[in-house]
Amino acid sequence: MRVPHIAAIAALLLAAIGANAPAPPAAMFTAAQAHDGLALYGQYCSKCHAAGLTGGLGPDLFGRAFTASSLSMGALNAEVTREMPQDNPGSLTPAQYAAIIAYLLAANCYPAGPAAYPADGPVPNRATKVATQDGATAPCAAP
Ligand code: HEC
Repeated sequence: MRVPHIAAIAALLLAAIGANAPAPPAAMFTAAQAHDGLALYGQYCSKCHAAGLTGGLGPDLFGRAFTASSLSMGALNAEVTREMPQDNPGSLTPAQYAAIIAYLLAANCYPAGPAAYPADGPVPNRATKVATQDGATAPCAAP
């Protein structure tokens, strides 16, 4: 029978495409953290990295240049919590840093989820490269 045969081939093709598609990133922060992080970013980071994450005194924190920086999740965590804000490194609380990292991830179009980004626990997906998701050309709105 012709029609079911075509349907079977289509199903196989779709399965093959699905197998090759990159897995969506795991949720690493809550929406509430990203929301708090937006305000904290404005207070402590945007003067050097710009409100739209497009860089200035400091590098871009969104888009192609950010993705090309090859930061891993672990390196991002270390850079932010130990080196930033560059004019007063280490001056924020662990919870504030976690919220700011949540905001940076949300702006780069990572999904929010039920689990909080840990303020003092192990960095989630430590070895995974940070990248702006879905080829977004403008920062995603903080949830
Ligand atoms: C006084 C200016 C200044 C402030 C304020 C500042 N930064 Fe930076 N930032 C820089 C500069 C300059 C660099 C590049 C040199 C370096 O890595 O130290 C940088 C680098 C970074 C990087 C690494 C980017 C990459 O591609 O390697 C991240 C992430 C970052 N900043 C996040 C933050 C966050 C989050 C805040 C707020 C808590 C912040 N910065 C506040 C100036 C600043």
